[in-house]
This record gives sequence, structure tokens and C-alpha cells, in this order.
Amino acid sequence: MAGKHIKIGLAGLGTVGGGLWSNLERNRDLIESRSGIRLTIPMVAVRDMAKAKAFGVPADSLTTNWQDVTRSEDVDIVVELIGGVDTAYDLVMDAIDQGKVVVTGNKALLAERGAEIFKRAGEKGVPVFYEAAVAGGIPIIKALRESLIGNHVTGIYGIINGTSNYILTRMTDAGLSFADALKEASDLGYAEADPYLDISGWDAAHKAAILASIAYGSWVSIEDLHVEGIDGLSLSDVHYAERLGYAIKLLSVVKADDEGRIEVRTQPSLIPNEHILASVSGVFNAVAVHGDSSGESLYYGSGAGQDPTSSSVLADVVDAAYAVDTHQRGPGFVPHGHYGEVKPIEDTVSEYYLRITVTDQPGVIAGISTALAAHGIGIRATSSLKPGEMKEAGFDEVIFVLHASRYGTLLAALKEIEAFDYVTAPVVHLRVEQL
Ligand SMILES: NC(=O)c1ccc[n+]([C@@H]2O[C@H](COP(=O)([O-])OP(=O)(O)OC[C@H]3O[C@@H](n4cnc5c(N)ncnc54)[C@H](OP(=O)(O)O)[C@@H]3O)[C@@H](O)[C@H]2O)c1
Repeated sequence: MAGKHIKIGLAGLGTVGGGLWSNLERNRDLIESRSGIRLTIPMVAVRDMAKAKAFGVPADSLTTNWQDVTRSEDVDIVVELIGGVDTAYDLVMDAIDQGKVVVTGNKALLAERGAEIFKRAGEKGVPVFYEAAVAGGIPIIKALRESLIGNHVTGIYGIINGTSNYILTRMTDAGLSFADALKEASDLGYAEADPYLDISGWDAAHKAAILASIAYGSWVSIEDLHVEGIDGLSLSDVHYAERLGYAIKLLSVVKADDEGRIEVRTQPSLIPNEHILASVSGVFNAVAVHGDSSGESLYYGSGAGQDPTSSSVLADVVDAAYAVDTHQRGPGFVPHGHYGEVKPIEDTVSEYYLRITVTDQPGVIAGISTALAAHGIGIRATSSLKPGEMKEAGFDEVIFVLHASRYGTLLAALKEIEAFDYVTAPVVHLRVEQL
């Protein structure tokens, strides 16, 4: 029996859009036999016609004007895969206004303008799907929105930027400097020509904002995100962490406190080697979700790339097709719950790792310990282990692992410590997450 025919308008035929086109060509019959829906793409908006023809898209399906897609009578679902924020926003809003069901993989767009998009989608009764926006091929959005719907989420811990994870893995395993590991990631095509969004932490932060919004029910504003990248990380910290029994990962943390304030932060963090997230290496992504009933569940896989990402887009397209078929009108994100206020970063609480460069003289450890104690911060471990190559004559590095303290309190203590005449460089401080 022939399935119901649902038609897709695709904007953008680059890495992910091209993958969607090819994978739908390959698996169209399989999808139809599983879903009862026949999917075709009668309209594709591109910037470069020549590149598009290489995919075998018929010339009469191509346009360079995206409004031909959003306004077409022959399109039920609009898939936005052009990337960027401004044009993508206009395109998605126009599609919603035309009553088209929308699929997008655009994390920057959702992080920056998701509140407006879902508000309009709610008003117009148009679903918006966005599985590919977080962790590429890993179905984490569906897991949070559907599989874990019966849970209060108590925490989300994600390694959600493959480029950073690749760089950190190579610094750890091969002893490469940050610059050399970044160059290798670029040469292998893992890093963008401009790697800023990856290494500054912002790509992961955009995804963390989306996860936080779904988990806690109000769209998190981009201004409230705390973001630190891996660009300032030194090889010596990777070595010290390893010797102390930790791996350094760019970790996105989302959790709520008892007053309903949420923290959404992305930063290089020390993770105990015995936690499964510590062994997520290379370009892979993983997200651990803690639910009050489910306990910890882990989602692991390819966080980017043509096929994994277009697999998620295709799953969204099938859900979108069901929505078209059944006239389902949920917007894709429903504001709910009493959460909303994002906790100031100074109020967040973690354990910390400190690397302090000092002149090698008596009383140094005692002086630093006293300053920390004066702020009520306890020391869990100290070490002056030095990778040989890091030591310079007359200077030493001391390492402290601290008990949990408020970040604002730690910063106040560090200000005093940095004023000591034997402290010769800004103190390096990284969070230690016990997960
Ligand atoms: N790549 C991944 O692994 C991945 C993973 C998860 C999510 N995503 C998201 O998926 C989206 C697409 O990423 P991508 O990697 O596929 O990017 P991409 O390879 O740069 O593809 C984007 C395509 O859109 C075209 N385009 C740009 N503006 C257009 C416009 N106004 N009208 C028509 N076409 C336009 C570009 O044309 P030109 O080639 O002529 O510039 C390009 O072919 C982004 O939002 C990205 O964040 C990507």
C-alpha cells in the first residue's frame, strides 16, 4: 500500500543538507515501510546551483531564493540547514507564519532566538523540531523531551563539542600542545576554518542552553550563560590532572538548586577517571542525564559529521511528517515549571584545582593554605609534582585540590593569594566535577 506523501522544502545543501538529500534517496523505501509515509524533496534552496547539481537534484527543484521554499504550496515541512542566525531566523519565522512544520539543526539560532521562535510557533500552532542542534547524531533531545518526561532532571553533564574533545584527547594521549592539537584537528577536517566557536566554548554553550531550556522549562537567555573555552589551557594542567586521577574535558553542566535557580555553564573541568565521561575521547560526544526516577543515563555517539547529523534531521523529518499527517500542533518547546532564574556564576559551588606558580622558598604552602582557610576553603590534596619540562630554575608550581566552595569566595581568596610576593603568575583554577 502506498504511504501518505509528505513534501519537504530544504534550505541549504551543505554538509548536513547534502547528507539529508543522499540518505533520504538511499533509505526512502525503508522509511516508508516503517512509517507509512513517503517523503520527497520537491524544492531545495541553495546559494550555488553548480554545487547542488552534483547531488543530482533536478534543476527544476532548485532555487536561490529561500522564500520559494517557505512559500511553496507544494511544501509541507521546511528544513532549515543554512546555518548562521539572521537569515535562518527570517526563514524559520516565515515558514512558521506560512503554517509549515519546521526542522532545524541550528543551535546558534535556537540559543540566540529560540524564545521568539517557540513563542511564534506556539501562537501559530506549528511544531518545530531540532534534534540535530545538540550532539549531532545522538538522540538527546528526544530522550529529554519524551523518554525522561516523567523525571525531574537533577543534572546534565555533557561533552558536546567534538573539536574540543579531540584537542584535549590529543593533548592528553600524545602530549601535543594546544596549538599543535588544534592544527591537527584542522588538518583532519574536525575543526572549522574559523575554530572560534568550538575552542571558545560557545558552540557547547549554545547546546547547553537548549538542554537547560528543555529540562527546566524556560528558554535560557544567551547572556546568562557562563562560558570558558579550552584555548587558555596548558599542557601542564593536563599532565597534573592525569597524575591526580582526572581527565580534563570541556564540560557543559546544567542543574537546578532547591530554590529553582539553574546553572548553565561550560568550562574545562577535571572529571574523575573512574567516571565514564572521562573515557569519552576523540571527536565523540556524550551526555549524562540525572533524573529523580531514572537515575543516571548516558547518551554517547557521534556529535557531528554529515551522516550522523543528517540521521537526526531525518528522524525529525519523520516526526514532522507525522505532525503534518495527524495535524499535531505542539510547538516543540512548551514553557513550564517554576524555574527560570539563572544562578549568578559567583553563587555556583564546585571543588577546584589550582596551579600556583611561586618562587621556591619556605612558607609558601603555609601562606597559601592560611589564605584559603581564612575564606573557609578546605584543602583536599596538594602536590608539587612537576613534569620535568615545566620546571624553570628558581620557580616551582604547587597544585591544590580544594573542597567545594562558592565560586565568588574562591575568587576573593585567589585575589589575596595573587598579591603575595612569592606568587609570580595568575593562579590557574579549574573546576573539579564529582558528577
Ligand atoms: N556539520 C555538522 O556536523 C553539524 C552538526 C550539527 C548541527 N549542524 C548545524 O547544521 C546547520 C548546517 O551546517 P552544515 O555543516 O551543513 O553547514 P554548511 O556545510 O556550511 O552548509 C550550509 C549550506 O547552506 C547554504 N546557504 C547559506 N546561506 C544560504 C541561503 N541564504 N540560501 C540558500 N542556501 C544557503 C551554503 O551555501 P554555500 O556553500 O554557497 O555557502 C551551504 O551550502 C548549521 O546550523 C549547523 O550548526 C551541523
